[in-house]
Amino acid sequence: MLESLIDEVLVTEEELDVIVTRLAQEISRDYADKNLVLVSVLKGSIMFTIDLAKKLDTVCEMEFIRTVSYGNGTEFSGEVNMLVDFDRPDFAECDFLILEDIVDSGNTLKFLVEHLQSKGPKSVKTCTLLDKPSRRKVEFEPDYVGTVIPDKFVFGYGLDLFEKYRDVPFVAVVSPEYLASRGL
Ligand code: IMP
Ligand code: MG
Repeated sequence: MLESLIDEVLVTEEELDVIVTRLAQEISRDYADKNLVLVSVLKGSIMFTIDLAKKLDTVCEMEFIRTVSYGNGTEFSGEVNMLVDFDRPDFAECDFLILEDIVDSGNTLKFLVEHLQSKGPKSVKTCTLLDKPSRRKVEFEPDYVGTVIPDKFVFGYGLDLFEKYRDVPFVAVVSPEYLASRGL
């Protein structure tokens, strides 16, 4: 069943572990004397957030945010809306690091950076597990990138396929047959 959805496994479990370990080392080093607050973008970043946080050598706090980008199938309209936000009394003392599963058009992270910046924090940076720079529609450069991937629709390790298969432990490219069967 799952096999029929997969065109190819793009990032294996072992490769994910190497990538997340490297990011955790970089972030631990860069945030050693900062007030790190991870901001996990639900739902796609859940696996990444958990695995990264467990590998950090520095103290951190965690916040969760949820956005929805309207569109259908694999294309997004560019309009980003906030479904879940957080509040806290000490924004001015926080070094926020937004954790995303994937950067595509760049709309979501650009919106979230501006949203957090408007609250007057000490700093805001971004970390994405996957980056599809060839899909950018707005100018946006993440501060930390796990790995760059080609312009293909992927799922697994938190990323969904019509809300399913977030639990798949690796990142796979969706088969063209499956996309065609959904009219995409
Ligand atoms: P944006 O276009 O950079 O704003 O990305 C919007 C959101 O689209 C991301 O946070 C993902 O949740 C989702 N997304 C983009 N590309 C993919 C993909 O290949 N698979 C699954 N979700 C994706
Ligand atoms: Mg997402």
